[in-house]
Amino acid sequence: MPILDQNSFEFISRGTEYTRRIGIRLGTILRDGDVICLEGDLGSGKTTFVQGMAIGWGSLDQVTSPTFILLNLYRRLDGGQFHHLDAYRLKDAKDAEALDLERYIETGPLAVEWAERIKPALPADHLWVTLRIVDMDQRDLVFTAHGSYYKKLLDNFRMRIYGGL
Ligand SMILES: Nc1ncnc2c1ncn2[C@@H]1O[C@H](COP(=O)(O)OP(=O)(O)O)[C@@H](O)[C@H]1O
Ligand SMILES: [Mg+2]
Repeated sequence: MPILDQNSFEFISRGTEYTRRIGIRLGTILRDGDVICLEGDLGSGKTTFVQGMAIGWGSLDQVTSPTFILLNLYRRLDGGQFHHLDAYRLKDAKDAEALDLERYIETGPLAVEWAERIKPALPADHLWVTLRIVDMDQRDLVFTAHGSYYKKLLDNFRMRIYGGL
């Protein structure tokens, strides 16, 4: 199991379905207030991963790429709300601050694509996911926990992928 350090680990995805499936694994353990930040080039699999997370979390709604509409909302039977923000079109963190992300975080998990563009507007504690295109079918995913809560979340997630090592 490739561990970079105590707070991060790496996963090589060998196809779209793998990326979606590990997104599902993470989605099943997400709770209200969890913030998942995604960084990676166009086509690196950010939206695919968020699709998995929303499915695992229990979304009744289909996940689409929010590139043109900024923010998507997915609902669950129990009234939970999963927010999916695409920061591609935001100029900087000031734009994001105007969105008042806190009110979204209160009602459910928040996933942010192109998170690096609005970093100052995001909570200091979060799970950061860096996706890199290796070749046509492979993506390199690196997960890094920021803050003790996310370290526990990452341990839990890692265990769900690799078993209790
Ligand atoms: N291992 C992989 N993981 C995720 N996507 C992959 C993978 N291999 C190929 N792809 C393809 O790359 C594209 C990723 O698109 P998308 O998830 O929308 O990326 P992003 O949101 O980062 O722009 C899709 O067309 C998908 O089928
Ligand atoms: Mg996308």
